[in-house]
Amino acid sequence: MTSGGDSPGMNACIRAVVRTGLYNGLEVYGIRRGYEGMIDGDFFKMESYHVSNIIQRGGTILKTARSQRFMTPEGRKTAFENLKQHGIEGFVAIGGDGTFRGATVFEKEFGITCVGVAGTIDNDLFGTDFTLGFDTAINTAIDAIDKIRDTAMSHNRMFFVEVMGRDAGFIALSTGIAGGAEAIVIPETETNIDYLISTLERGWLRQKSSAIVIVAEGDERGGAFEIAKLVKEKFDHYDTRVSVLGHIQRGGNPTVRDRILGSRLGMAAVEGLIEGRKNVMAGQINDEIVFTPFANATKHHMQINKQMLQLVEILAL
Ligand code: F6P
Repeated sequence: MTSGGDSPGMNACIRAVVRTGLYNGLEVYGIRRGYEGMIDGDFFKMESYHVSNIIQRGGTILKTARSQRFMTPEGRKTAFENLKQHGIEGFVAIGGDGTFRGATVFEKEFGITCVGVAGTIDNDLFGTDFTLGFDTAINTAIDAIDKIRDTAMSHNRMFFVEVMGRDAGFIALSTGIAGGAEAIVIPETETNIDYLISTLERGWLRQKSSAIVIVAEGDERGGAFEIAKLVKEKFDHYDTRVSVLGHIQRGGNPTVRDRILGSRLGMAAVEGLIEGRKNVMAGQINDEIVFTPFANATKHHMQINKQMLQLVEILAL
């Protein structure tokens, strides 16, 4: 099943789960709409042909949802009864931290085992170098930022571009470096508006005709509109515009990296279940498959690379 926010590469992963399961002689069921579908009994037996022609598609053929009902003991009990009825002993959950927290409680209560795959564009899970969908999302975002740069430069404007990341600045950091941004604003570091202004002023003084600031939507001082307003109050040299990239970052055909990552992690998750692993997330670290307990994957926030932060600053000179 896929659960939580969708991310490009989920279909490649579903394909790998189904085909690895069948290859190993397992019976495979797809659960639609995550835990919601588990509670509603929205299951169907999957054969190899169900996952034909999906490796290149964004979104998830299994659909996805965030489930309030699974947070209740009654919801989980109904889900368990549905699984039991279909003879399902273990499942692969492709999702984020909420998905894994739900699976942990579920295993404790009913003994149904789960191996997870980190499927989120935010790249904020501990236990994998990259989460599924991150690479596609940053490539989508960079395409938009490059286009914004063309118009920013033509009009001598300053743009505040908001990228996704409710709790994390990884998309902002990568696209900030790759897009040649003047600055990035992220939730992991304290946002000092005066310092941001001094950075922009430095560019202005050396006659930069335009500027781009990438803002992670979850910054503690607000999104791109709020940050733009705070900056404009004290620094109004440039004509300013705000652009919120939004959900386009979540869709689209997955990149080669995400297709391969989804395929590898899907296969690893099924093999993990067969080996008797439970409450672990399959991830990829230094090109190796690694299983990390859900508790560690969700508790330890991925650290922002300080050198990369410095890189944004130095290269914006
Ligand atoms: O998938 C993660 C994420 O993209 C966050 O960065 C964002 O805040 C959130 O999903 C928004 O998701 P939704 O619109 O589905 O609630």
